Amino acid sequence: MKIKVLEKVSGNRAEMVPDLAFKLMALMFAIRDKIVKVDKLLDEFGICPGQVIVDYGCGPGSYIKRASELVGSQGRVYAVDIHALAIEAVKKRIRKENLINVTGVLAQGEHRMLDDNCADIIYALDMFHMVKEPGTFLHELRRILKSSGVLFISDGHQKRVHAKAKINASEAWMIVDENFHYMKCIPLK
Ligand SMILES: C[S@@+](CC[C@H](N)C(=O)[O-])C[C@H]1O[C@@H](n2cnc3c(N)ncnc32)[C@H](O)[C@@H]1O
Repeated sequence: MKIKVLEKVSGNRAEMVPDLAFKLMALMFAIRDKIVKVDKLLDEFGICPGQVIVDYGCGPGSYIKRASELVGSQGRVYAVDIHALAIEAVKKRIRKENLINVTGVLAQGEHRMLDDNCADIIYALDMFHMVKEPGTFLHELRRILKSSGVLFISDGHQKRVHAKAKINASEAWMIVDENFHYMKCIPLK
């Protein structure tokens, strides 16, 4: 009997928070976004018109409008999340705000949802702590990013030292800069 071995791609069902937890988080983010313009952070990433951007672990899509504005009509934003409710929320926001250059993508562990070397910039904010297999995840991000691309990743709810240890252990990224909010990484190979 032949056993089909699937190459691992980040994102499996075990990483998904329950629907109720997701809805509470989305509600909290909706309140947060009214008080704090969190998406201003994207202005630090050097995003240019025409680029392809991946918002990995996009949640309900707090950052997609600003990302859409920065890449403009010739660019594209892929908002990726493992949770179906996140993609539902993103699609709703796309319709409401007419974000025609944004695509919601449901990450499914067994499938590669985005092409190799398709992205100029990936940002993964407030989600790294939730990833159960950081090595697999970081290699998936590397596969998606162009060699000339840049990854911005925040610790999420873990200490910087732990986030850094995972990044270094992956042997896929070099941290070239960092501040309180995120680490800037470039591909190692
Ligand atoms: C705390 S929310 C942050 C959302 C958004 N980045 C923000 O900062 O507003 C974390 C999100 O990451 C998603 N997530 C967790 N692990 C993931 C994975 N391996 N692949 C894709 N999304 C993931 C969760 O479903 C959740 O929507």
